[in-house]
Amino acid sequence: MARVRSVWRCTECGHDHPKWVGRCEACGEWNSVAEEPLAVTPVRTGGAVASGAPIIRLRDVTAARLERWSTGLAELDFVLGGGIVPGSMTLIGGEPGIGKSTLLLQAAARLEAGGRAVLYASGEESAEQLRLRADRLGDVAGDVRVIGETRLESVLQAARAMDASVLVLDSIQTVYTDALESAAGNVGQVRECAGRLMRFAKDTGVAVIVVGHVTKGGSIAGPKTLEHIVDTVLYFEGEAALDYRLLRATKNRFGSVDELGVFQMTENGLVAVSNPSAVFLAARAAGTAGSAVTALMEGTRPVLVEVQALAAPSGYGTPQRVATGLDPKRLAVILAVLERRAGASFATRDVFIQVTAGVRLNEPGADLAVAAALLSSMHDRATPANALFIGELGLGGEVRPIGGLERRLNEAARLGFVQAYGSALATVRVAGMQHRGLGHVEELVRALAA
Ligand code: TYD
Ligand code: MG
Repeated sequence: MARVRSVWRCTECGHDHPKWVGRCEACGEWNSVAEEPLAVTPVRTGGAVASGAPIIRLRDVTAARLERWSTGLAELDFVLGGGIVPGSMTLIGGEPGIGKSTLLLQAAARLEAGGRAVLYASGEESAEQLRLRADRLGDVAGDVRVIGETRLESVLQAARAMDASVLVLDSIQTVYTDALESAAGNVGQVRECAGRLMRFAKDTGVAVIVVGHVTKGGSIAGPKTLEHIVDTVLYFEGEAALDYRLLRATKNRFGSVDELGVFQMTENGLVAVSNPSAVFLAARAAGTAGSAVTALMEGTRPVLVEVQALAAPSGYGTPQRVATGLDPKRLAVILAVLERRAGASFATRDVFIQVTAGVRLNEPGADLAVAAALLSSMHDRATPANALFIGELGLGGEVRPIGGLERRLNEAARLGFVQAYGSALATVRVAGMQHRGLGHVEELVRALAA
């Protein structure tokens, strides 16, 4: 026996409702709920059905070493965890124009040159447009095989026919499957196509890479379940005006997340940036008030970034707090600690915080640098030359040590930094780097005023 039914599914979060509603019950989004026919589901009869899969003890499972294919782009391989895994499905998201197609065409060209057959299916652009991009990339991009097809069944058929090792699909929002009647880009279509692509990858061993558009909020458009289906989710981001592009994994079944790959967009495609710290600090306004450098851990790599602050007297009304690259709530905490624990009040000032090259300060170790930049701007006095600020601020004003200090300090020493302001409790010492231990945020205020 089988039955057919529909659900009303939110296009933002994927939550199902039994009937149409104007506002999603789960995420609160208006007008996001659309009807979606469910595929025919056989009603379970409860009978015992023998499984074809044997039951085995874990220790008897022989773990084959995971095979990896190099994409020829070291930074991409690094973020993937050492290369692309056969039979895996990777989703890459990013704003329009950030360089997703460029990255994948470059990877496709190198894979092809390395003897792996790649099919680049594009529903986004015509073959002519792809050709123009390939011409810019030079290299061997001309060898990549493309297909301008949006029907999923045809794409998979083509990939089988040419015995492809890698299938690139640009983008998941432009494909549709015959199994559903709805239009391409519809939540049901996106989910169904993703599910079919995943099965295709597992069945054939083809590595599938799909592009996903992002919404204004910055998440990949379509149901959240899309991210749950795939093995790996990569985000490609960067400031539109700057040439730097950051690639990170937010989910990776075959490697760690939080690794950062840095590229620069040039006239001839993306080029790996092997020394991100030097690049991020290149445009630094050293000797200017309101600037402080800290060392972040991006996955396993230490990266030096500049934090800029501007604390300007505000006009009437509530002073502004604008933070780019820093959680506004964290900024509020740092401002409150400075005011209550060190008497440095920003109540009558607008505060702006900015971090270089689109990097985000998502670890508390950057607190001290934010505080230093703020104080430096308020007193209109540059922070000490070649100084690094690294430490977490507690609500009591105490300066706390953070992990991975040795690697961070080594990276800073390598780039010519000679002193590090940090927690007095930190015991790590690095050659060539003077340790300036702070117990309390008041000591930072005094150090910067001296
Ligand atoms: P694209 O890969 O089309 O972005 P996405 O697929 O994420 O929408 O890249 C678009 C931008 O990159 C476009 O503004 C042109 C620029 N670009 C370069 O600067 N150099 C190049 O070699 C290429 C191919 C593109
Ligand atoms: Mg594109």
